[in-house]
Amino acid sequence: MNTHISDFTFHNPVKVVFGKQKIEQLGTHIPSDKKVLILYGGGSVKRFGTFDRVKDALKDRSIGEFGGIEANPTFETCMKAVEKIKAEDYNYLLAVGGGSVIDAAKFIAAAAEFNGDPIDIFGKGIGAGKPIESALPFGTILTLPATGSEMNSGSVISFKEKKSKVGFGSPKVYPQFSILEPELTYSLPKRQLANGVMDAFTHILEQYLTYPVGGMVQDEMAEGLLRILIKIGPDVTDERRLDYNLRANFMWTATMALNRLLSVGVPGDWSTHALGHELTALNGTDHARTLSALMPSVMTVRKLKKWDKLVQYAENVWGITEGTEEEKIDAAILKTIIFFKSIDMPVNLKEIGVTEADIDTLINQLEKHGNVSISERGDQTLDVSREIYLHALHTAY
Ligand code: NZQ
Ligand code: ZN
Repeated sequence: MNTHISDFTFHNPVKVVFGKQKIEQLGTHIPSDKKVLILYGGGSVKRFGTFDRVKDALKDRSIGEFGGIEANPTFETCMKAVEKIKAEDYNYLLAVGGGSVIDAAKFIAAAAEFNGDPIDIFGKGIGAGKPIESALPFGTILTLPATGSEMNSGSVISFKEKKSKVGFGSPKVYPQFSILEPELTYSLPKRQLANGVMDAFTHILEQYLTYPVGGMVQDEMAEGLLRILIKIGPDVTDERRLDYNLRANFMWTATMALNRLLSVGVPGDWSTHALGHELTALNGTDHARTLSALMPSVMTVRKLKKWDKLVQYAENVWGITEGTEEEKIDAAILKTIIFFKSIDMPVNLKEIGVTEADIDTLINQLEKHGNVSISERGDQTLDVSREIYLHALHTAY
């Protein structure tokens, strides 16, 4: 356990291009000699005109396209893109979409250059977990503020056959640039807007709600970003409110939530994500909905472990100043639940179709993926994870 801010090197090489009409400048960000493969998802970018703008901006370039990347992108689909890259000699990728397309681009970029079987890019019971020596360069155009994938070097991939969802990370898979046009969020339905607010909120909590080491910069930034999401969340999730500044603040908050600025030098938790990925692998629940269904139970079951930070969260994020420490914590947990409900997110496992019979499967999968001693102190054993799942299943908030 650290008692002070630990040493760190911070280097985030992603060029962020933020604002209006930035797609039109694509040609200035991609070297002119590159053959570009445009990656996209289930078709929203075609329906809402983004794809045409991309093609227009690259009309003098050699380009191709690969669509059909699913939400929670699969290894199987990504490997089809790798085949196309090898057959047609692409040497640059452009991901146009949300976290799923961007995560897929990261894996595809690494797999296309990988010496050996790309399954070995993954550890965690899936492959050998070999280091990535090189990857194709790529840029992104973000259409859904949520994951922060546009400014980080992590990726989460699903395996249909293995019914697994696991991540990998490497400095080789930072995007070279990411275009953030807040107006691209105008076509998002309420459910995805709420997912985005929730995912960003949880990313901040996973890096903040641990134990104090005196990281004033990290703590104050985290608290500020949480307060922003609480303030704008209800308006952001009103899909009819096409307010530029509202969406711009949402987009930048989600990016800032997971670009390493909050996590350097301080402990991180990530247990809610580990438990959540197993829920998505189990029944396909949206990533963010697994997080909201678990977080109140994580806060409650792990209250003693997270005590000091929960008090700080109550005071600095929710402005709770009255009562004993425990009363402040309980009030903050309640306010958190009310906030999640206000943006129509589930707050227990029943709401996302989990039953008691699923718990053993979830625990077995956590074990298979090596998540046996997680959380900020590494003391969240499978027994504790089971307690959290059961709490989230049986507590009706
Ligand atoms: O597929 P299309 O047709 O494009 O539709 C998508 C998809 O159905 C739609 N959408 C995206 N932009 C839109 C839009 N619809 C209308 N207008 C737009 N502008 O939204 C749906 C969901 O998209 P998806 O990319 O799956 O969502 P999200 O950004 O939430 O990404 C989720 C994935 O990211 C991973 C998750 O596990 C999940 O697989 N994560 C990645 C992280 C990272 N790399 O750092 C961290 C996160 O914790 C997370 O694990
Ligand atoms: Zn997440």
